[in-house]
Amino acid sequence: MKGLILAGGKGTRLYPTTKVVNKHLLLIYDKPMIFYAIETLRDAGITNIIISLSDDEPGHFMKLLGKGEELGVKLSYVIHGEPKGIAYGIWEAKHLLRGEPFVVYLGDNIFTESIKGHIDYFKKHKKPLVLLKKVDDPSRYGVVEFIKTNYGKRIKRFVEKPRDPPSKFIILGVYCLTDQFFKIYPKLKPSKRGEYEITDALNLLLPVGYTYYWGGWFDCGVFEDLYKASKWRREVVLSQHVKSV
Ligand code: DAU
Repeated sequence: MKGLILAGGKGTRLYPTTKVVNKHLLLIYDKPMIFYAIETLRDAGITNIIISLSDDEPGHFMKLLGKGEELGVKLSYVIHGEPKGIAYGIWEAKHLLRGEPFVVYLGDNIFTESIKGHIDYFKKHKKPLVLLKKVDDPSRYGVVEFIKTNYGKRIKRFVEKPRDPPSKFIILGVYCLTDQFFKIYPKLKPSKRGEYEITDALNLLLPVGYTYYWGGWFDCGVFEDLYKASKWRREVVLSQHVKSV
């Protein structure tokens, strides 16, 4: 199964830093952000990975990561051009993804725990799946609205950055998708902010399965999470150092 890491976008919430540096090359304590994405997918059993970039210098990524041997993965690169949204980024990689289930990973997400159990579940069931987490301030993210049924809860709809969130459960940046995505994509229209939203795509894919991720998680598109992720990583590195002496 292939993985697609989206590592483009404008990174406007990290200006001026990301005016000249791609966000995914920024340092999270001891290594660039993109390493965390690759390692998380690799540790979940996905080693055939496509990195999708906007108009950023692909040479930087190739120089840093090459074909991926040092990280134990097989990397290829694709340019999705102008950052027109997450769904658009996926669509632009269709020639590499069509025909079998795949996993999309937003390159600015950092998971402190393995997501292997979630990916294994998807590999078994091969139906669209999202990872959810309960947070205090859901309005910064894609949010889920549930509906009660006789058999428990199911997802009624997804809403992108709502002012009045219908729940505290947000969608994390790992989307387990099937070929169905490419069938519904042509129906999408740009949102008010001009992007082809992943939440709109997910609404067209309903019913979508979900699993809960209980570990630590950072969305490093903002300074606060960049800081918190570096702090977490520092503690991990220092504790490994203590164990080894
Ligand atoms: O982190 C989880 C959240 O990520 C979800 O809850 C939201 O539903 C989802 O829309 C997304 O929200 P963000 O506002 O954090 O998305 P952002 O624009 O930061 O883009 C996420 C990643 O995708 C980031 O690593 C950059 C990359 N990207 C983004 C766009 C818009 C691209 O590669 N190309 C693009 O065109």
